[in-house]
Amino acid sequence: MEESRFATRMHGMAGDAIWELLSLTQQPDVISFAGGMPSPDAFPHEILAELAGELLRNQKTTVLQYGQSEGYFPLREWIAQWVRRKGIVATPEEVIILTGSQQGIDLSGKIFLNPGDKVVVESPTYLAAINIYRMYDAAFVTAPNDDVGLDVEALEAVIAREKPKLIYLVPTFQNPTGRTLPRERRQVLGEMLTRHEIILVEDDPYTDLRYEGEAVPAIKSFDTTGQTIYLGSFSKLISPGLRVGFAIARPHILRKFVLGKQTTDAHTAMLSQALVYEFCSRGYLDEHLKRVCAMYDAQRLVMKEMIERYMPKDIRWSQPEGGMFFWGELSVGVNAKELLAKAIKEKRVAFISGESFFADGTGQNTLRLNFSNSSPEKIEAGIRALAAVFEEHM
Ligand SMILES: Cc1ncc(COP(=O)(O)O)c(C=O)c1O
Repeated sequence: MEESRFATRMHGMAGDAIWELLSLTQQPDVISFAGGMPSPDAFPHEILAELAGELLRNQKTTVLQYGQSEGYFPLREWIAQWVRRKGIVATPEEVIILTGSQQGIDLSGKIFLNPGDKVVVESPTYLAAINIYRMYDAAFVTAPNDDVGLDVEALEAVIAREKPKLIYLVPTFQNPTGRTLPRERRQVLGEMLTRHEIILVEDDPYTDLRYEGEAVPAIKSFDTTGQTIYLGSFSKLISPGLRVGFAIARPHILRKFVLGKQTTDAHTAMLSQALVYEFCSRGYLDEHLKRVCAMYDAQRLVMKEMIERYMPKDIRWSQPEGGMFFWGELSVGVNAKELLAKAIKEKRVAFISGESFFADGTGQNTLRLNFSNSSPEKIEAGIRALAAVFEEHM
């Protein structure tokens, strides 16, 4: 069918580079650092099986019937309590359950953006967010950076000049860089919100996967204006297939989220919501997270050691204290896509080249490595093989 018959918003939309690579990287002989998936060994399937059986036997009218668009109330209550440890004070009514936190990014575009409205994103940023805001015909403005990450003072000048409608940030163990915005900068950002009319989408799915260092409060905890929409997710903590995430926002924004969700999927699957609620409220989550963090930390440390030992020394690597990714910056002029093609062909090792994480089309010399979904043995073998390809090419 001719392209012109599709809506203009679909013109030029490329597929998400990661989903496109998925079929290749699922081949058994490929070592893949490409996706952003949790390890299947991290899924608490036995506990979930027990809970699902119990729910289907005893609560069939709750979990098999339609539910409210706002979400399953006990889970909203539990989340409102749980986020206090991130410094967020919210009532259950200020929590909406979403079909993955990605739905929250989409809803923020749906309820706030008119074509041409400006959105500030980090450079690089989460690539699905770029695609989502592009669907709403947003114009991107790049947030200024220094070595630590987002330069919040320079950001204020950008906001004054460009008058963006929305800022989208992944402040903790960012996808793709693994970087975390320090506490002081979060505070400055919170104070800055008092001087501007702007929505801040704080997308925070990795914050509970911390392996070293001190936890930092959410930016939302410093926002006294109620302009921050906090997005959280159980995908990386329990299971992404359940598709349970949430947003926390003041009631007037939350109401619009509810209206937006009603026309998308009415509500998130009740069985998934109830499963997450039972898992969390019965106290399984903390123990489970301890186990998952120990496992991912071991994988992170092996990747770090292998990178230090084998990779060419002129690549700059991030030093993540949590999350799932290492980020590499190759010398200017080196094309990571070419390296990827060579690595897959010659060594059957995959990673993701970084340019799709840049809204402005730059970043050809960057790459992301995922460590959560490969065993230490695979990480060791995979990084050695990659290093050989890099060495030869560079
Ligand atoms: C930064 C970021 N936001 C949102 C998501 C989507 O998560 P969910 O499974 O909750 O939709 C991801 C998943 O990789 C992510 O990395």
